[in-house]
Amino acid sequence: MFLVTPVLRAIQNVAVFTWDFGLEIVNVVTPKRKVGHVTPEGEPGAGGNWPEYIAPKEGDSRCCCPALNAMANHGIISRDGKNIKFSEMPHKLNATYNFAPSFTFFVPNLAAHMLKKSFSKDTFDLAEIDLHNGIEHDASLTREDTGIVASQAKPHVPFIKELLASASGKDEDGNALLTPKDISEYSAKRRVEARATNPDFSLKLAHKLVGSSNASGFLTIFGGRVDDIESILVEERIPDGWESRIRKRKGLTFAAFNPVVYKVERGIDEKKYKAKVAAEAAATVADLKVEGGEDDVADEEVAAKR
Ligand code: HEM
Repeated sequence: MFLVTPVLRAIQNVAVFTWDFGLEIVNVVTPKRKVGHVTPEGEPGAGGNWPEYIAPKEGDSRCCCPALNAMANHGIISRDGKNIKFSEMPHKLNATYNFAPSFTFFVPNLAAHMLKKSFSKDTFDLAEIDLHNGIEHDASLTREDTGIVASQAKPHVPFIKELLASASGKDEDGNALLTPKDISEYSAKRRVEARATNPDFSLKLAHKLVGSSNASGFLTIFGGRVDDIESILVEERIPDGWESRIRKRKGLTFAAFNPVVYKVERGIDEKKYKAKVAAEAAATVADLKVEGGEDDVADEEVAAKR
């Protein structure tokens, strides 16, 4: 009997990924949605008109996921972030961000499974999603680790500003774009620093992949646009007039998205980041020695300036 659930889940997963592949084929052979018509008519945000943004108030439930918090802040799901049906999420995620129905079915199912709840019958409060080492994990790009700051409800703005300041791409109008390489480099920094500062640090391969998936998700859905990403990550607000940058008819599938996740994860090189920091420190010491005269620089002064 104990084998029935894993077997059913395995069958469900095969079905979801087969469905996903079919959706990607439809995407390839059908024209994209027209600009200005990505969010379907009749849905919140159609024509770029998002329901009013209201920042969370005392007692509201919020979580580690900026995309879900933003939906609550705009009233697309309950504004207090409580008693949300798992079963309402697929349609709402699909309409809001244009993730493919395969993705928007799979992820809330995974969350329900993680919380040992029924996808079809149960509800959740956003804060429940924060279950540590469920989907939530250490070395995130937008939150301090749970071991450092227990509540995952609010973004850690300095991380986000630093990430966005590292954007190395440009669109045709010269606007700053975040690239997969930028995400990889900042993820390496976060992993090295979190490992060094969080005594409870842990990051299994599955959670590394979740981290790269989340980052690749917002990168893709927001087309790397730094202004839009800043709004969703810092204020957890959908920009006025915004629509998903994914215009594919069936939305962003795993089939299209997984290569980006792979590229981001493969590009995360903690050793390279550590070597860069060591080289910068050595260059600083060398500069100080030149400024002070090779023999005059006291070791304490060098250490203090490091
Ligand atoms: C029901 C659907 C979803 C669930 C259950 C969910 C769950 C989560 C969880 C648990 C985290 C924390 C991961 C960490 O510790 O870093 C997270 C972070 C995040 N999610 Fe979601 N998410 C969902 C949908 C989405 C969607 C549709 C997007 C993109 C538009 C998205 C974008 C993000 C981003 C940008 C982060 C922050 C990653 C970081 O700080 O490194 N999520 N999500």
